[in-house]
Amino acid sequence: MSNKHATLTIEDKSYKLPIIHGTEGDKAVDIRSLRKESGYITLDSGYMNTGSCQSDITFLDGEQGILNYRGYAIEQLAENCSFIEVAYLVLIGELPTRTQLNDFREQLSRFALIHEDMIHFFDHFPPNASPMSILSTMVNTLNNFYPEMTGDTDEELLVVAARLLSKIRTIAAFSYKKSVGHPLIYPRYDLSYCGNFLNMMFDKPVKPYVVHPEVVATLNKLLILHADHEQNCSTSTVRLVGSAGVNLYTSISAGVSALWGPLHGGANTAVIEMLEGIQRDNNDFQKYIDKAKDPNDRFRLSGFGHRVYKTFDPRATIIKQACSKTLEALQVEDPLLNIAMELEKIVRNDDYFVSRNLYPNVDFYSGIIYRAMGIPTNMFTVMFAMGRLPGWISHWNEMMQDSGDRRIGRPRQVYQGAKKRDFVPLHERE
Ligand code: ACO
Repeated sequence: MSNKHATLTIEDKSYKLPIIHGTEGDKAVDIRSLRKESGYITLDSGYMNTGSCQSDITFLDGEQGILNYRGYAIEQLAENCSFIEVAYLVLIGELPTRTQLNDFREQLSRFALIHEDMIHFFDHFPPNASPMSILSTMVNTLNNFYPEMTGDTDEELLVVAARLLSKIRTIAAFSYKKSVGHPLIYPRYDLSYCGNFLNMMFDKPVKPYVVHPEVVATLNKLLILHADHEQNCSTSTVRLVGSAGVNLYTSISAGVSALWGPLHGGANTAVIEMLEGIQRDNNDFQKYIDKAKDPNDRFRLSGFGHRVYKTFDPRATIIKQACSKTLEALQVEDPLLNIAMELEKIVRNDDYFVSRNLYPNVDFYSGIIYRAMGIPTNMFTVMFAMGRLPGWISHWNEMMQDSGDRRIGRPRQVYQGAKKRDFVPLHERE
């Protein structure tokens, strides 16, 4: 903490508030003593200016389009690492050595099965159940099957994380298999994290699946790009729910539910639905642009805009490049890619969007890649959840281990309702 202060004057009294600097230049006014000293709170709906914690995990500069996990640039990690390597980094704070990585992989393989009793749960969801609601339910119930462990040491944290990362992958693939009525394909010891997922999704007793290295590489990249994004809506949810002292699985289950929303992770599904709509309307882009600009219409262009990025989302840049490469490698021609590129061109030359800094975000091109891999649209947000898991676990653990500043999350409000009045008995009310 620096010894600089900000001075806030309210009516005729001044309050000295400490200034806090982050390691990459973040600046904050520490208002923790404000209400006690002045009786005032700060009002910040949507938390546009509110820092909820200090964190060592991810640095994000929305003005310059910078995203670093534990100090490493997302571009370098996406280019050089596997998802599991990055998950280890996000969780522990350092890149793993070869031995540490092999040990972590071994644990992931060991925990890949889910309890057979859990498999019966899948039979009782209605046929059109959303995979996100299935995922949230199943993650919550993991608490009943596997004893809760703390992350007091790195070793314990890695065990907890390996169990969750591995089982979520199995649950995700099983929920897809159930939805199409195919037999479940169990995880295999000889396949990598991403290879195993693809095999559980697409292998069939009548037609063995061949794991395509290009698809595995792209899936690794996509999961890395989603691994953490500091205090976004779902991560803040995980922290808030966890702050009440609830177990990790239930906190993560709440995060899955928050991610489902179309303004958050659900946007990757909404993008494809929007692009398909444009295609059905014979590429009538103007109709969608006009709707998005209409202040009386709640429609928004999915995949554009971000609370923090006021320039290109660096993840979107990487995904856009990966998109063309993957489609080429898989020899897939998707007309939605051309529609997406055309829409981006229109948006980037339209003053409404330019003046509001509305650039493509991480969700704009990711769905087109998932489609090329054969992943159905209703599974896109599940893919996001698999990727975001290291971040959720790491933030939950960071909060739990923070002995100095761990307290239940409990915002205040400014009450604007009826003033105190006398009760009126029922027989006197007209
Ligand atoms: N299409 C059209 N207009 C938009 C869009 C959009 N996608 N996004 C923002 N705007 C407009 C708003 O209408 C508002 O205009 P106004 O100033 O005239 O009222 C202005 O831009 C600012 O928008 P806010 O809603 O105040 O921005 P906020 O930071 O609260 O919202 C959000 C960010 C939710 C991402 C928003 O841009 C959005 O809804 N985007 C579409 C959904 C989406 O892609 N979500 C995924 C985000 S990435 C992620 O969570 C993984």
